[in-house]
Amino acid sequence: MSVSISGKTTVVGVIGDPVSHTLSPPMHNAAFSQLGIDWVYVPFHVRPEFVGAAVRSIPALGLKGFNVTVPHKVAVMEHLDEIDREAQLIGAVNTVVHERGRLIGYNTDGRGFLRSLQRQGGRTVAGANVLILGAGGAAKAIACSAALAGAGRLVIANRTFDKANDLAHMVNEQTGVPADAVELDGSCRVGSRLAEALGEADIVVQTTSVGMYPRHDVPPIVDVTRLKREAFVCDIVYRPRETSLIRAAKTHGCDVLTGEGMLAYQGAIALELWTGLDAPDELMLQTLINLLAAEAAAV
Ligand code: ATR
Repeated sequence: MSVSISGKTTVVGVIGDPVSHTLSPPMHNAAFSQLGIDWVYVPFHVRPEFVGAAVRSIPALGLKGFNVTVPHKVAVMEHLDEIDREAQLIGAVNTVVHERGRLIGYNTDGRGFLRSLQRQGGRTVAGANVLILGAGGAAKAIACSAALAGAGRLVIANRTFDKANDLAHMVNEQTGVPADAVELDGSCRVGSRLAEALGEADIVVQTTSVGMYPRHDVPPIVDVTRLKREAFVCDIVYRPRETSLIRAAKTHGCDVLTGEGMLAYQGAIALELWTGLDAPDELMLQTLINLLAAEAAAV
């Protein structure tokens, strides 16, 4: 894939610190090429003290917007003119869109997960009992988007119980979807609230860093034998593509979803917000899968 830049090229990108590991530029540039539009996506390494300056540079330089990654997803918000409801609820922005001088913040992470669930997993959260493992930024995005998409009930399980409790309360208050919190305790002993939540879950979403490369050689974060065999098990970790949780869930007989889809589809939705076009999202996903395979082969 080659990108040709002219005086008319529209520029978007991603800000983060660090940003060197990002797979988004090749994924988006492949999509622009497929769409036949004169756009380019570039990484910007922005340190925390420059977040405000970076946001102000969007209208100054005439960028169409950018993605926002760790650690700027919250800090960027105070510099925007408008924040979409879902991003407000999540309390973080991963996509900024520039509309005639106005900067609008969105969060496509949760919707990216839901699109992956639907396209790759053939499932929806509508009416489902969803168990989320973790209560950090990714968990918050998925919990809010799942609630807005009509999940029947949410259970948030986290090592630090107070964070799970705060998230469950917030989701319940803001969306009306029933949401409970449980302590994420690796023992999953019979009769515990976690074991009960595992037994009742239709969809499980693992959002913590447990199982992520280079500390991937760890036992699954929960005892999957407590799950129904019909439960659908998702892990948003994509390095490695197949985590110990995913392997154990397959062995137990569950259908599974690996993490690269959420990354591809959050990008696809951002691209749709910038361009107003349908993203070639299968191409974006395949580009990402190829990049991850090349990375894994190089280790
Ligand atoms: P992200 O934005 O990727 O969600 P984060 O906001 O730092 O990252 O959240 C990390 C999540 O992984 C948290 O839920 C964290 O649990 P705590 O709130 O108890 O810290 C969870 N996590 C990280 N390491 C963990 C571990 N070894 N065992 C269990 N949970 C872990």
